[in-house]
Amino acid sequence: MNRALRRDYLAALKLDAWRLRGDSIRTAAEADAPDALDAPDAPDAASLAAIQPTADPVPDAERAPPAARVPAAVSVAVPVADGGREAGADWAEVRARVAACTRCTLSSTRTQTVFGVGSLQAQWLIVGEAPGAEEDRQGEPFVGRAGQLLNSMLRAIGLSREQVFIANVLKCRPPGNRDPTATEAAECLPYLQQQIALLKPKIMLAVGRIAAQNLLRTDVTLGRLRQQVHHFGVSKVPLIATYHPAYLLRTPADKRKAWEDLKFAREVCARV
Ligand code: URA
Repeated sequence: MNRALRRDYLAALKLDAWRLRGDSIRTAAEADAPDALDAPDAPDAASLAAIQPTADPVPDAERAPPAARVPAAVSVAVPVADGGREAGADWAEVRARVAACTRCTLSSTRTQTVFGVGSLQAQWLIVGEAPGAEEDRQGEPFVGRAGQLLNSMLRAIGLSREQVFIANVLKCRPPGNRDPTATEAAECLPYLQQQIALLKPKIMLAVGRIAAQNLLRTDVTLGRLRQQVHHFGVSKVPLIATYHPAYLLRTPADKRKAWEDLKFAREVCARV
């Protein structure tokens, strides 16, 4: 297929940010480099068109028996209950509790709470850190530039934003986008636990150090947490940690590692 036609296909598919080239993911700007779409290992439009939940952009040559590539599960002790799924608590009730929450001081500075968004049947739960300024304004997680990159990361493993559920460790924006305090995270965690109890995800993807460390109750670096299967809560949901899209926007060289993490998470999900 010639390059112009392939471009048209990509545009029609809105595959405009991350594109697969071998086992790496490139930004639109990087993909516009002269060799990008004509590289021998670039997927053709047909395989990109096949990016959907069952699609698999991993080249066959890269396949090995999962056991050879997926490290043994590592359980990090997370001594928390599943959020006290109060009898009969349903999505509407949890949403109302979050909207009315005054458990910490962030309730006095927020514009609104950011409950989370996505499919209530989702198999994947994506967990970020906390709402930023735009999320606080719109009431939806990951709506800024980082959100666009997150959408592209999901697309690269065949998932749409609408198919997953996206939430944060904190439901309210910390002023000035500072890191969440331990108290804020502890006060807010039960809401995420209630969401998990309702959603029953097959897999959790913690994006960024803050999310991973808070969910796993550890101060181990993200570099050491990634590429391992952790488990969250009493229901032991498999949890994979990867880089935050905002970090990847600042450090595009680490997109390759993020791509490894996404493929790893997809493999783990397929085995659950
Ligand atoms: N960063 C996050 O961690 N969460 C958001 O919702 C937005 C940006």
